[in-house]
Amino acid sequence: MRLASLLLFGSCSVLFGASPVVPALRPLATAAGLNFGVATSAGVVRTDAAYRETLLAYANTIVAENDLKFGPLSPRPGFYDFSRADALVDFAAEHGLKVRGHVLVWHHQLPDWLKAAHYTAEQARELMRVHIFTVMGRYRGKIFQWDVVNEAVTNASRAPLRQSFWLETIGPEYIALAFRYAHEADPQAKLFYNDYGAEDLSPKSDAVYKLVRDLKQQGVPINGVGLQCHFDVAAPPNLEAVAANLQRLADLGLELAVTEFDARLHLPASAANLEKQATLEHDLLAVVLRQPACRTFMVWGLTDARSWVPNFYRGYGAALPFDAMLAPKPALYGLERALRQAPPVVSGTGSARPTR
Ligand code: G3I
Repeated sequence: MRLASLLLFGSCSVLFGASPVVPALRPLATAAGLNFGVATSAGVVRTDAAYRETLLAYANTIVAENDLKFGPLSPRPGFYDFSRADALVDFAAEHGLKVRGHVLVWHHQLPDWLKAAHYTAEQARELMRVHIFTVMGRYRGKIFQWDVVNEAVTNASRAPLRQSFWLETIGPEYIALAFRYAHEADPQAKLFYNDYGAEDLSPKSDAVYKLVRDLKQQGVPINGVGLQCHFDVAAPPNLEAVAANLQRLADLGLELAVTEFDARLHLPASAANLEKQATLEHDLLAVVLRQPACRTFMVWGLTDARSWVPNFYRGYGAALPFDAMLAPKPALYGLERALRQAPPVVSGTGSARPTR
């Protein structure tokens, strides 16, 4: 069954004999000119029909939570298993969804074989080039926006670049090199630097700003900056500062994206905290919708049943717009309110309109 405008389900309410009316955010987001969606995986999209239907009513864009990372893709040197990534990209094509690419060059989720060996700078550069060409080349024209380099910056002002396989083998120039290879591999794709904890005005966002400004000044083909936005509802960033940060990055001529939004709660989630979460979801999306250079808003998962949060933050969870039974939470209605209040789309601003 394909849902056009309304989804009717919800396990809790079934108990009481009434199903909540779940707004389909996809058409609202598309009308607002926003690439709007979720991180997902081939496994769940293939096997869970209720999840799939909910996603299709909610999102016009998907991003692979893990299926396009170097480690999961390449279990042995020179060998790639594209089965999961292909399934996700095919699913998107079948349903008119856009695909964001995550991630090409990162310190984490690297193949074990890569970490186990010793490479010279020249060998590491070649490994990076081959990886970028192999993955981007396969999905050329199918993935519109890529996180080329992820989380390269630290909080420490004395050592602003994070220790990683890439920094240690190639040196700081690995960042510019990754963007140059990515541009060669798919000249049409929008190439992003992506990071966390750099959403508002802080030493870390200053370091990210300086990094991308310098890349632009050196003529490196970078198109945008992704702000991950993994927030704690009890200690959210100042959203005026987030808006100011978006503006200073936009003033560099860069596009922007909220790439991995979630808003975690201490468990068990109280009604008051779910309302606070809804307010944060509304307010962040409203900030994005007021910024013409930011036309992408991705949530890091669809349902609390599959969020990374409980595995990484003990005692926390409930960070996503649908609960573990796929019932809508106040957060979903917060996002809906923001989309309904979206300023009219002005042609010529931001990136291309999403499909459908
Ligand atoms: O798939 C394997 C499975 O085969 C194995 O048996 C099992 C045992 O641990 O692990 C499974 O892999 C896990 C994978 O998620 C898929 O569930 C990994 O252990 C686990 O580390 C991995 O976590 C991912 C995490 O990145 C790794 O750092 C999360 O799902 C993913 O949400 C998270 O996403 C990151 C972004 O890429 C970058 N920004 C931060 C964000 C949150 O950490």
